[in-house]
Amino acid sequence: MLIRKASAIALSILLLCIGSTRAEQAPGQAAIASAHPLATRAGHEILAAGGNAFDAAVAVASTLAVVEPYASGVGGGAFFLLHRAKDNYDVMLDARETAPLAATRDMFLNKEGEAIESFSRDGALAAAIPGWPLALEVLAKEYGRKSLKDSMAASIQHARQGFATGERYSKMVGWREEILKRNPAATSIFLQNGTAPAPGFKLIQKDLANTLELIANKGAIAFYRGGLAERMVNEVNSTGGIWSKKDLANYRILQRKPIKAKYKDMQITVASLPSSGGIVLVDSLNMLGNFDLTAAGEVDRIHLVTEVLRRAYRDRAEFLGDSDFVFVPVKQLLHPYYAAGQAAGIRLDKATPSDMFAGVPETAIGADTTHFSIIDKEGNRVSATLSINFPFGSGFVVADTGIVLNNEMDDFAAKAGVPNGYGLIAGRDNPNAVFPGKRMLSSMTPTFLETDNRLAVLGTPGGSRIISMVLLATLDFYNGADANTIVSKPRFHHQFLPDQIIYEKDAFNQDTKLELQLRGHRLAESSRHYGNMQVVIWDKRKNALSAASDPRGEGLAVVLDPAIKSRDDEPRSSK
Ligand code: DON
Repeated sequence: MLIRKASAIALSILLLCIGSTRAEQAPGQAAIASAHPLATRAGHEILAAGGNAFDAAVAVASTLAVVEPYASGVGGGAFFLLHRAKDNYDVMLDARETAPLAATRDMFLNKEGEAIESFSRDGALAAAIPGWPLALEVLAKEYGRKSLKDSMAASIQHARQGFATGERYSKMVGWREEILKRNPAATSIFLQNGTAPAPGFKLIQKDLANTLELIANKGAIAFYRGGLAERMVNEVNSTGGIWSKKDLANYRILQRKPIKAKYKDMQITVASLPSSGGIVLVDSLNMLGNFDLTAAGEVDRIHLVTEVLRRAYRDRAEFLGDSDFVFVPVKQLLHPYYAAGQAAGIRLDKATPSDMFAGVPETAIGADTTHFSIIDKEGNRVSATLSINFPFGSGFVVADTGIVLNNEMDDFAAKAGVPNGYGLIAGRDNPNAVFPGKRMLSSMTPTFLETDNRLAVLGTPGGSRIISMVLLATLDFYNGADANTIVSKPRFHHQFLPDQIIYEKDAFNQDTKLELQLRGHRLAESSRHYGNMQVVIWDKRKNALSAASDPRGEGLAVVLDPAIKSRDDEPRSSK
């Protein structure tokens, strides 16, 4: 008996050991997917030089700031979702911008109380206090192994020596040309003869190189205090902005617990507030958990995804804001009971019109932001979405610094019911109202997904459509789709208001469209493709990495052979 008991104990210990070896298994290889080949390569170099995923994240983020100056950068913010393998630790670095201390609830309204779009979108008043410089320092110091100087070196070189721009650059400049023209520094750096340059333009950013070098050598303090800080405050305020030195000196990175939830047997780790992404994603998945999607036909599946998005985005408008400033019923919104109640109101044969809920109509425009995903050979992971909001942010470049300031203030709700640049609204109580020091609600949704067999690191830009893109990717991943399929598949989106399914050309065939219309859905074909998703997948069973960069963008995804060290070696693309 005793012997039997002892051997049972031995067996359990053995099983436990096998279990824990599995948990600690590492890929032995690395993979990076980012929105630009130069950024992916900069990350590769740092990994090859002995850096970990967090050092690579510094290199990639810093290079993206140079090669996609329209998407993210020194003057912006980000969410970095991190997984540290050695102690199985997940954290979200919240580098979201904060409203200046002089900000007021009604600052974007005119005397008649109407919201004036240009106030929160164009020029210095639209700019909130950046988090990017301090985020890079925290990444390097608390999680990385390399100095900021080493990890930022490639980006400084690209800024100083210049690089050939692509089509995306021309398109983004074209989009914001009128605003860029108002600012002499922006005009001289980004335009050619006062207009959007053709692809192949050599973009040199000497001032930005100096700014990056200052941060790399002296740390983020050189951005938040001293001469550079003073220069930014003076310039911003001389053109209608409201920054103070105290705003910059007070800025903090908040290390937050990510949201963790399950969809069936899949573990989801995703951005928490002030990103709305995690709550909207998990609420949507919780609702979908009440239906058998595998048995559902194509139209039923699209219908159900639409109906859960409608409800989750409605909750976004009603309840979500920076929870350090307003009460948000997070526990309830994430609870399966709550989702079951919402799901019970979904009819399979009919769309629920959004005007059955409280809400207000909208308009929508396009914009930019960026994302990258990394897994290193030890199993550390980074999923990072970075933004200056619209292409070239506020269009305001601080003279002699190369810093493009964000227009993230537009992610606040200027007034209840009034749509922002992505058509997003806030409900009557406006949990997302402007307030000094507050962080504006975001849709950026850096995510980790994990099943018994596979693990994914993913995310995308795309304003309000980020969350629906991540939801579709999550469902595809759960169904076994590979990285290429996930980034390539045509997309559709619903955000409560406007009450319509926006879809990419080719997302639906004629029969599907007809069926959806018969159920009461309004359909709107998107005038362009949207999103720029970056995915890295680790197949734990086969111990194989794969990566893919959205074919809609100009990015590069690579699985890296750790043996490749030289800068000129072309990493193997798995695109
Ligand atoms: O934080 C947000 O939700 C927005 N500022 C993101 C903007 C964006 O993704 C634009 N991209 N196309």
